[in-house]
Amino acid sequence: MYQLWDDIVAPVIDALGARRVIEIGALRGETTARMLDRLGGKCELHVIDPEPQFDPAEHERAFPGRYHFHRGTSHEVLPGLPAADAVLVDGDHNWYTVYHELRMLAETAQREGVPLPVLVLHDVGWPYGRRDLYYEPDRIPDEFRQPWARAGMRPGEPSLAYLGGLNRHMANARREGGPSNGVMTAVDDFVVEHPRPLRVVVVPIFYGLAIVVEDRVMDAHPELGALLDHLESPAGTRALLELGERIRIDEAILTQTWLRHLEEQGQRRADRYIDLVKALLLDERNLQHELRVSYALGLRGAPPDPAALRDLEAILHPRVRGAIRARLAELAQGGVAVAAVTSTTGTISSLDPTKHQLQLSGGQTFEVPAGWNFSKYKVGEKIRVSYQKKNGMMDATRIVAVK
Ligand SMILES: C[S@@+](CC[C@H](N)C(=O)[O-])C[C@H]1O[C@@H](n2cnc3c(N)ncnc32)[C@H](O)[C@@H]1O
Repeated sequence: MYQLWDDIVAPVIDALGARRVIEIGALRGETTARMLDRLGGKCELHVIDPEPQFDPAEHERAFPGRYHFHRGTSHEVLPGLPAADAVLVDGDHNWYTVYHELRMLAETAQREGVPLPVLVLHDVGWPYGRRDLYYEPDRIPDEFRQPWARAGMRPGEPSLAYLGGLNRHMANARREGGPSNGVMTAVDDFVVEHPRPLRVVVVPIFYGLAIVVEDRVMDAHPELGALLDHLESPAGTRALLELGERIRIDEAILTQTWLRHLEEQGQRRADRYIDLVKALLLDERNLQHELRVSYALGLRGAPPDPAALRDLEAILHPRVRGAIRARLAELAQGGVAVAAVTSTTGTISSLDPTKHQLQLSGGQTFEVPAGWNFSKYKVGEKIRVSYQKKNGMMDATRIVAVK
């Protein structure tokens, strides 16, 4: 939820003048770090996570006395914590966990005679608003656990996707909707049962964020009421649209950077593999040993050349290359073509589907693979071509668009 921190969550906590905040679910500590930077010196922060992906000791050292990390589940930790002014709920996204987190927070507040903390809950929209996710399915009692599977989700499809979809590595409920299913359903059920009037504002961007405030807290903090009014006003809605677009662009950049990295990594691995296969086919290692032996034998008792001993590889290199050329010719005669795969990047200058060729602006002409979809590419588009040189032609083995 850190993407919503500056524009929504931090202003809520500021308007409240919070002195104690609880964060349920911290992951890499990205929201935690922002909170610690922003919260005043008199505010203490309690963070709960059974499996944080950061070292809480760093925060403890940097913010002594103000930062308390609790390694455990929310249900184990919350009953032992004092009442808070605000709680960020972003841990296990299922009805059972969230509903009981809210109940525990309400019981602590009632016991201490203070209002319910302001609740800021992430993932109240699609996909987990009306569908359970289980970080550890075994932690949920059988009677509250929906049938689940590790399969992806698609908007508008209540079942899990057969192929692909979002979060297919996670334990997702097989069906969306119905009772006791999803984070927003837990909020709805809690709100109906809570003995005092509550205001619920749902921000429908970036997987959905709900802000739940007791009316008496709003009366005591008019700035908070004004902030919630703004979020629901036309001007606030436009600001949310702009924020949603900013987040979408950031995510697209991240995804493209990551995909490009994976693609380049895959290409490097493929090139290394081809080199290895080629070296095996040519028996390069043995060739080098054979040449070394022949060098030593050729000395016929004469002292070896000290330069050769220092850098045998450099002396033998031309002979190795000559031997490889001979071996290549032998293989070609036997009908085996061995060619290294090379890549080049350039702009398409012409496409010729009849000849099955494309040309780059640098003048290189490539034969494209059979079945290659010409209509997917345009003149002027930047592409990367992996190719092998064969019989004087350049055979493209892989063509990808470069954005
Ligand atoms: C969606 S991530 C939290 C993201 C974080 N709030 C942020 O803004 O970057 C969910 C986290 O909740 C933790 N978690 C899972 N089950 C939990 C539970 N029962 N109680 C507390 N945290 C839990 C996971 O270990 C994970 O780190």
